[in-house]
Amino acid sequence: MFEGLKALPQDPILSLMLKYQQDDNPAKLDLGIGVYKDELGNTPIMQAVHTAEQQLLQSETTKSYIAPAGSPLYNQRIRELVFGADHPVLRDNRVASAQTPGGCGALRMAAEFIRGCSTSSSVWVSTPTWANHIPLLGGAGLPLKEYPYYDYENKSIQFQAMLDTLEQAVAGDFVLLHGCCHNPSGADLNREQWLAVAELCARKGLIPFVDMAYQGLGSGLDEDAFGVRMLAEKMPEMLIATSCSKNFGLYRERTGTLFIVGANGEQAANAGSQLFSKIRSHYSMPPSHGAAIVETILGDQPLNQMWQTELQGMRQRILGLRESLVRHIAASEIDGDFSFIEQQFGMFSFLGITPQQVELLRTRYSIYMIDSSRMNVAGLNAQRMDYFVAALADVLKSS
Ligand code: LMR
Repeated sequence: MFEGLKALPQDPILSLMLKYQQDDNPAKLDLGIGVYKDELGNTPIMQAVHTAEQQLLQSETTKSYIAPAGSPLYNQRIRELVFGADHPVLRDNRVASAQTPGGCGALRMAAEFIRGCSTSSSVWVSTPTWANHIPLLGGAGLPLKEYPYYDYENKSIQFQAMLDTLEQAVAGDFVLLHGCCHNPSGADLNREQWLAVAELCARKGLIPFVDMAYQGLGSGLDEDAFGVRMLAEKMPEMLIATSCSKNFGLYRERTGTLFIVGANGEQAANAGSQLFSKIRSHYSMPPSHGAAIVETILGDQPLNQMWQTELQGMRQRILGLRESLVRHIAASEIDGDFSFIEQQFGMFSFLGITPQQVELLRTRYSIYMIDSSRMNVAGLNAQRMDYFVAALADVLKSS
């Protein structure tokens, strides 16, 4: 049975992480996988997470099963974080919520849910989008279509082309949007553009499907949720996948959430029951530990404050690194305008170099980034900035 199986290509992001780990050059620099790093290049456990974990160890009384939807209190607290506590969809009970195994679990369960609603709906994804969106959504059997998003030449969003392409979508199609900190480009819709997307979706009967994996790492917890909250006010139906991997640093604890907004309370509850049945038949119920940490932090005023302060520090460090990188490049022998890096948000930007130059960075300098030249800005630090910019200057001389 198995003898005819061929080895599949490795995942481009996870395999790069392994290559980095195996590299014994002490000067190595990891700008690949999207994890936050501090000034020392470490990905520490947040203090609020550590404290909540200690509290949990003392207070936890059982490891018995939970429901497919996960913890109701976790779901409520994340709902308030994402929508804002007094959002009309919460007042009207129009949201079904499920704690999921990470943002990936939320995306895949969203795909299974969509497939259960309709076999003819397509999901429109941005070009480019996060590499794992394609197998996560397409693997459930959904037809995927692409809309243009990032203009590599002008280093900005090709917004008119995006709208023009989405005019071809038909009622019942889903439009996957990145809530903030677009992965891989860092180029986010501004408020006017979000409103134009909402107008288009409403006019054509398209259903927004927002992936918000980086809330709080762009401009702020509320600012980053602008698109989600505005769409939820204007649209009768939508899906939202969120993750606690980045903003709580809970990567390996696999903690995420899927929200389904329905036209009214009854429809939302019915949709929720469909979703929970899908969950039961896939993994039965989500893992508990990460969500229990988040639930503890969000339900405790001092811990919540501690977490928000830490998150703000992470966000400001990334913004500072973006400014510093642009300044260092401008002061170097490198030609060209890299100021776009300062105008983008979150962990990622495309450096705009060729795959060959990316490879040279890796082979000559042990600097790791995805072949597309997506770099994780959070992997830089003040001490390594000169090394990085000198390496970049060197490889830019090779075509
Ligand atoms: C990334 O884009 O690097 C992260 O979201 C990690 C992953 O799972 O790909």
